[in-house]
This record gives sequence, structure tokens and C-alpha cells, in this order.
Amino acid sequence: MVISFVTMDIFSFVGIAILCYLLIYIVLLSFLDRDLGLAWAEKLGKSIGSLKGKVIWITGASSGIGEAIAVTLSKHGARIVISARREYELERVKSRCLDEGKGKSDDIFVLPMDVTNLESHQACFDKVIAEFGQLDILVNNAGRSQRANWEEIETQVDQEMFNLNVLSVISLTRVAVRYFMAREEGGGHVAVTSSVAGLFGVPFSGSYTGAKHAIHGYFDSLRMEKMHHGLTVSILCPGPVLTNFLSESFTAKPGEKYGVATSSSDRRMTADRCGYLCCVALANSLREVWVALPPVLPVAYMARYFPNFTWMIGGYVGSKYMLKLRDSQSTVKS
Ligand SMILES: NC(=O)c1ccc[n+]([C@@H]2O[C@H](COP(=O)([O-])OP(=O)(O)OC[C@H]3O[C@@H](n4cnc5c(N)ncnc54)[C@H](OP(=O)(O)O)[C@@H]3O)[C@@H](O)[C@H]2O)c1
Repeated sequence: MVISFVTMDIFSFVGIAILCYLLIYIVLLSFLDRDLGLAWAEKLGKSIGSLKGKVIWITGASSGIGEAIAVTLSKHGARIVISARREYELERVKSRCLDEGKGKSDDIFVLPMDVTNLESHQACFDKVIAEFGQLDILVNNAGRSQRANWEEIETQVDQEMFNLNVLSVISLTRVAVRYFMAREEGGGHVAVTSSVAGLFGVPFSGSYTGAKHAIHGYFDSLRMEKMHHGLTVSILCPGPVLTNFLSESFTAKPGEKYGVATSSSDRRMTADRCGYLCCVALANSLREVWVALPPVLPVAYMARYFPNFTWMIGGYVGSKYMLKLRDSQSTVKS
């Protein structure tokens, strides 16, 4: 009798605790711009300053999120390698790092490269080692999105998308992981900028969503395989961010860019805020982080933890509304 009363009490207590936990979650998510683990790390975890002196290589650093990551890391004393195709933009980012931060010119290495040229990866990596003598973190950030009707996408676009957003990332990461595995001290850290499109099906971006999902498969597998070798694997998942991203997006046709600019009035996070939060994730070796303004962040939580409910809501609001959530526009340019 006594036992069943105690058991019942424990069940009630656990039930109420779960309910409170869910309520706190829902309330917090309606105003946070990052997932709860990242918010926790930002307040109570290691500061970005803990990366001081580390050698960190960022691809896609000539604009947007990559630029913001580079500037933030440089401000906090990291030695950075910045890569992209446009050398003049990389030089501009270097000047910005020197103007805004306390970085020294010798701590910023401009390394132009086209990441889709896989044959160049080992040579570029060797240049990093020749410059700084080591690599601590690789941040694969270069990438392009897409706006297109699913059935109109030509297969060549899928191939170009995967070359840039998947194969180049995997190839460069393999070069870095081989180096980390061969080091006596082990360890090492690889990160990739995925997207909330890597977490659930996003309309009007079929190839992009497929590519980002593939990234999660590759990186989750790498983490599981090498966790006992001390390798850290971070997947950074931003929602809509104010960058050149939309205008640079692939469409359904090869060689074409979407060409629609974002406006500062769009509901998108600034690149600087996103870059800062990504650096908090790196400093704290977080496995996967979600960085997005509401309502995209609560939608990401819902999609991950209540997928059936998300499909129901998605069916109710429709794909055009989902696109509006992302772009502040409800039609795909034809
Ligand atoms: N903005 C968003 O809303 C958003 C949301 C989720 C995820 N993301 C992810 O964030 C990452 C960065 O995007 P962003 O928003 O910052 O866009 P962005 O401002 O257009 O930056 C893209 C970067 O990638 C570089 N890049 C493109 N093709 C390249 C190539 N073949 N070789 C080397 N570098 C190349 C670009 O430099 P060059 O042109 O000089 O080569 C540029 O530095 C992407 O992986 C994207 O998927 C963005």
C-alpha cells in the first residue's frame, strides 16, 4: 500500500517536472535565436577567447557568415586562414579583421581557392601547415543555396550543388582528419556550416536540402567513428541569415543564379550575430547547433521532436507560407 502510494507520487512528480520542462522550452523558444544548448554554452560555457592562438581555417570567408566567423575569431586572438575564390574580398576581410580586432597581420593568412577543385585540397592544406606549422580547427563554410521548383531542377544542378556543398566539404575534411589522426596528440576539430535545411524538408530547395542532409550523414558518421580518437565534429545549422546567399543561390538551370537580393527589412538574423554564435559553438566543441530567429527555431524543434505534428501544420499552412518564412517572399522567381 505504502509502496504504491510512493510510486504514484514519484510518477506525479515526474509528470509535473516533464510538463514544466516542456513549458519552459516553449516559452524560451518563442524569443531565443539559438538552441538551448548553445544559449547555455554562451552564458556559462567557455568564452571565444579560449580559442586564442589556435589555427582555424575558414572556407567561404569572403562574405556573409564565413566573414563574420573570421572577424570574430580574429578579434579573440585566433590565427586564421581565410579561403574563397575572390582574393580581393579576402583582402578586404583581412583589413576588416585588422581594423576591428587586435589581430596581427601575420596571424591572418589569405589562401584563395576554389573548393570544388578537389585536386588542389592537399596542396592548399600543405600551405596552411607551411604558414602556421599546425591546424587546430577546419570550418567548412563555403556553400550556395537554391530556389527552384522541385520537378524543374536539371540533374546537372544537382551535380553542381553536391560538388560544392558536399563533395568539396568531404574531400577537404578527409585531408584534415588524416592529419589529425596522424598527430601524436590526436584530437582535432572539424566543423561544417549546414542549415536548418539539413534538419527537415525545406520546399523550393530540393537539391540544397538533399545536400545538407547528406552533410549530416557524413559528419554524424565521422563523429561516431572517431569519438574515441578525440576528434570533435561540429555541425552548425543557421536559419535565414542576411547575406548574399539568396542572390547567389542555384536555380533549376545550370549556371544560373537566383539573383534576388535580401533586404535588411527581411526577417533574417545578421551575419555578425550568426558568426558570433558559430564561434561560441566552436569554443565549446558543441556537436550540433541551431541558430535562427523565431518562428524558424521553434519550427526546427517541432520538426525534430514532433515530426508528425509538423507535417500536419505544414499541410495546413502550405509550402508558399514556408517559403515566406525563409525569404519574406512567397513566390519563386521563374
Ligand atoms: N544565409 C543563409 O540564410 C544561410 C542559412 C543556412 C545556411 N547557410 C550556409 O552558410 C554558408 C555560407 O553562406 P552565406 O549565407 O554566408 O553566403 P555568402 O555570403 O554567399 O557566402 C558564401 C561563401 O562561399 C564562398 N564560395 C562559394 N563558392 C565557392 C567555391 N567554389 N570555392 C570557394 N568558396 C566558394 C563565397 O566566396 P567566393 O564567391 O569568393 O568564392 C562566399 O565566401 C553556406 O554553406 C550556406 O549553406 C546560409
